[in-house]
Amino acid sequence: MTLAFDVYGTLFDVNSLVEELKDPDLVGRWRRKQLEYTWLLTAMGRFESFWEVTRKALIHAAKELGVRVDTDRAMRAWLNLKPFEDAVKALPKINDRKLVLTNGDEWMVRELLRNSGLSDYVDGIVSAERVRKYKPAVEVYRLAGEATFVSSNPWDVAGAHNAGLPVIYVNRHNQELEEIDPGGKIRVVRSLEELL
Ligand code: LAC
Repeated sequence: MTLAFDVYGTLFDVNSLVEELKDPDLVGRWRRKQLEYTWLLTAMGRFESFWEVTRKALIHAAKELGVRVDTDRAMRAWLNLKPFEDAVKALPKINDRKLVLTNGDEWMVRELLRNSGLSDYVDGIVSAERVRKYKPAVEVYRLAGEATFVSSNPWDVAGAHNAGLPVIYVNRHNQELEEIDPGGKIRVVRSLEELL
């Protein structure tokens, strides 16, 4: 069996950016704008790298709040996000083939995995950049082949179901699934350790 894990929000905690930026409102807006830009670009039939999308989202979020940020420094924090504790504990013990299926640029995710010490426990990085579209475009999930998709992001669960993938939903924070989720094969766990 192959498991394909989402990266940001599933293996790694995007909220750990708050440690670097000390501004939860900015981090929240940054993440939402980052997702929005990926969806906008894909809906428009355009593609920019995830690094560039993330940088532009930060500039927008900072302008909205009228705050100054050291963009280069903040961007580097994406290469040093904290992995969730349950991910650190579970990944080495899961014997299935483990891929990551991510909107992140391959180099970004490679560095992130290396910096967190998790590289050895991931068998391959599958990035949306291969099809120049972002999740939830069907083409991205198809890159995972017959894998079971593992995600904590409800919008991503909806996307995987829409593409016909079986899903394991890691519901750490009691988040409702999306009303537009077409549904499908799903298992819900509270943490990645439950996969064991
Ligand atoms: C990922 C983000 C979008 O694909 O959660 O890793």
